[in-house]
Order: sequence, then structure tokens, then C-alpha cells
Amino acid sequence: MSGIKTLTKHQIELMRQSGEVMKGIFVGLRDFIKAGITTKDIDTWCHNFMLAHDCKPSCLGYMGYPAAVCTSVNDVVVHGIPSDDVVLQEGDIVSVDICVNYKGIHTDACRTYAVGKISPEAQKLIDVTKQSFFEAIKGLKAGKTTGDIGAAVQSYVEANGFSVVRDMQGHGIGTHIHEDPGIPNFGKAGSGVKLRENMAICIEPMVNMGSYHIKIDRDGWTCRTRDGKWAAHYENTMLVTKSGVELMTLEDDENE
Ligand code: MF3
Ligand code: CO
Repeated sequence: MSGIKTLTKHQIELMRQSGEVMKGIFVGLRDFIKAGITTKDIDTWCHNFMLAHDCKPSCLGYMGYPAAVCTSVNDVVVHGIPSDDVVLQEGDIVSVDICVNYKGIHTDACRTYAVGKISPEAQKLIDVTKQSFFEAIKGLKAGKTTGDIGAAVQSYVEANGFSVVRDMQGHGIGTHIHEDPGIPNFGKAGSGVKLRENMAICIEPMVNMGSYHIKIDRDGWTCRTRDGKWAAHYENTMLVTKSGVELMTLEDDENE
């Protein structure tokens, strides 16, 4: 696939700096997210953090998207639009999906946060979604394929009784937030596109408690589970190397 780009040394350095800002946002949100705030409050907080660190929100205006970040509560899988009308309640879960543009190089990552005390089932959903990401990067390096990633995510998620969304996928990233190759969260090991050294990719399992079917609201963005059961999302941007991957957006106190 000749359309797939690799990053220059300079672009890799910019991506590291973009990732540092992303990490700062995720750590700050741990304290900021609580019952009583709105998803618009999250958006404003993230936007200000980016501006204060010489970055811009890549999502704002992307294909007409009207906010700085995506905030997806409970049955919303992805692309929830921050709103003054959505007040977080104790027991909710909220995925905050963020794209940070630093001098023209982007990172894209997501965390699903608990609002106060949540149910054991919701906690399991968050944990399985996150762990499926780490299953996918075990042994991942140049020469492995996009199908290796999808197979690892799918088998871990389904073994835990949940389902992976089929209609949305991970992607390459760099000078644009979405580049080739597409990286499905399901599939067959060994299939798909071969990864090469210095490609940057986003792996982003979207996991549903019930069936994998989704629907899009009339706003054209908000993506919900069709059965109304809850969903979680976890994502990091990484550089593919000869010997592994360099995670650009993983908080320093989180382990691989
Ligand atoms: N991280 C989102 C994705 O990969 C991108 C959100 S920007 C938006 O789909 F404009 F599409 F919301
Ligand atoms: Co993404």
C-alpha cells in the first residue's frame, strides 16, 4: 500500500510533544470529571488546556464538527457532542475522545471515565475495553498486520462477554487525524495491511455491553448502541518501530 505514510524524525518529535499535552489533559480530567458538571464543561476545560500549551483541537471544524472534543455518555459509543444540557450523574461513564494538533502534527486518544461510584458491570466494561487495547499491542511491531490487531481486540472482548463495534475503526495518523490504513477491531490474524517502521497509528477499541450494532442520531454525529446498553472506548496514538511501538499518549503513571 503505497498511500501509507511514514513520519520524519522532525514529525516524530512534534508528535511526542502533542502527546505530552494529551497526557496532561487525561491526568487533569481525573479530578475534573465529577457529578454535576456538563459535557460542555469538559469541552471548555480541554480546549483551554490545549490553547495554554500552544496546541489546537483538531476536531473543531473537522467535517463540520462543532466542538473541541467528543464526550460520549453511557449508551453513546463515540462522537457525542458536548452540551450544556448533558449534566453528568453519579454512576455514569463518559468517554472523552481528543485530537491534539501541535504545529500540524496530530495525536488522537480517548479515555472512558467513571463519574463517582459506578456499577461493577460498568467498571468491567471500562476495564475490558482498556485491556483489549493492551492485548492488541503485545508483540506489535513492524511486520505485523492490521488483522493481528483486530483479532487480538476481538478475541479478548468476546471472551469477556462483550462485543466490538464493526462500523468504526482505528486508523493511521500524522499530518491528518485520519489516514490509511484503517484498523478494524475485529478480523483474522495475519490479514490486512502490513505495518512498517515509522508509521503512526491509532488503535481504538469501541466495546458494547450488548450487541455491536450502532445508530447515528439526527445530529449526524452522536453514535449510540442500537440496544441502548452502554459502551466504552479507549485509544492511543503510537509510532510503529522495528522492535515494538512507542505509545505517544499514554499517561506516565500507566503501565503497558
Ligand atoms: N477521534 C475521533 C475519531 O477518530 C475524531 C473525532 S473528530 C470529529 O473518529 F470531528 F470527528 F469528531
Ligand atoms: Co481515532
